[in-house]
Amino acid sequence: MRALNNGVSDKYDWDKEIIVVTGGSGGIGAATVQNLAARGSKVIVIDVLGLTFTKPSNVYYYKCDLSNYEAVLAVAAKISKEVGDPTCVVACAGICRGKPILEASKRDIELTFGVNNLGVIWTAKAFLPKMVQANHGHFLIIASQTGHLATAGVTDYAATKAAAIAIYEGLQTEMKHNYKAPAVRLSCLCPSAVKTKMFTGIKGPSNFFMPFLKPEDLGDCIANMLWSGKAQNLSIPAFAYISPPTRALPDWMRVGMQDGGADVMTELKPHRPLN
Ligand SMILES: NC(=O)c1ccc[n+]([C@@H]2O[C@H](COP(=O)([O-])OP(=O)(O)OC[C@H]3O[C@@H](n4cnc5c(N)ncnc54)[C@H](O)[C@@H]3O)[C@@H](O)[C@H]2O)c1
Repeated sequence: MRALNNGVSDKYDWDKEIIVVTGGSGGIGAATVQNLAARGSKVIVIDVLGLTFTKPSNVYYYKCDLSNYEAVLAVAAKISKEVGDPTCVVACAGICRGKPILEASKRDIELTFGVNNLGVIWTAKAFLPKMVQANHGHFLIIASQTGHLATAGVTDYAATKAAAIAIYEGLQTEMKHNYKAPAVRLSCLCPSAVKTKMFTGIKGPSNFFMPFLKPEDLGDCIANMLWSGKAQNLSIPAFAYISPPTRALPDWMRVGMQDGGADVMTELKPHRPLN
């Protein structure tokens, strides 16, 4: 924990912090927004779709396609003028088109990388400069267990989540070394399967060790990560910590784990926020 926080302490005043949640209209993002709003924080949703819940008065909504750099810069400027400069960002927006590589279209693959990777980088470029200036802020990236161990049927998605983990690691070290802003926190959360529209049709295994999570479980976990004021690198549920070490294990163990989950995505019918 000390290493992730560069040995630097900082204070958060939750009456003053402004929190952006990308992809906050539905699923995990919406549960996070509702949790944070109930704690009294000012929360800004950036999403390409409209809110799926009744908007509390401390929640602000901005429509934007995060894969479009110019649109992200424009919305960030608007937010700065109308609400203020965000001090926390939860980079949660993502898509999964749910097809094996040879069946996925060029557009499926471009959209997946466009939202899940370029979208995170554009969000970082839009909001991190003010945090660097103040040497205060928290940027939390929602990656995935598939970023540590790819699953059959979602190879492009898994690749974007592996890249999201690299973006997290890279930004963390850049804040410290390139920008001399050691108090700007970088966090990463790698969930396993969560019951949202993104993974409609996902099959088990769902058991005591790896239960399907509810969006509310994630909303609570993410809000707690922010409110701790500390950078953290977490997997959820606890059994998901089995995946990060797989690259250091003998190949037969990794392949065995992938064989065990080979048919989990075969009936996936994710929703399509961008057509
Ligand atoms: N559901 C899971 O099992 C699971 C597991 C691990 C990680 N994740 C990650 O959690 C995050 C949230 O996923 P979810 O399950 O809540 O999915 P979801 O589809 O329910 O929510 C994703 C949100 O992102 C928004 N979005 C998509 N493309 C966008 C774009 N171009 N610009 C702006 N907003 C856009 C959608 O409109 C939606 O509101 C994603 O990054 C996902 O990869 C999900």
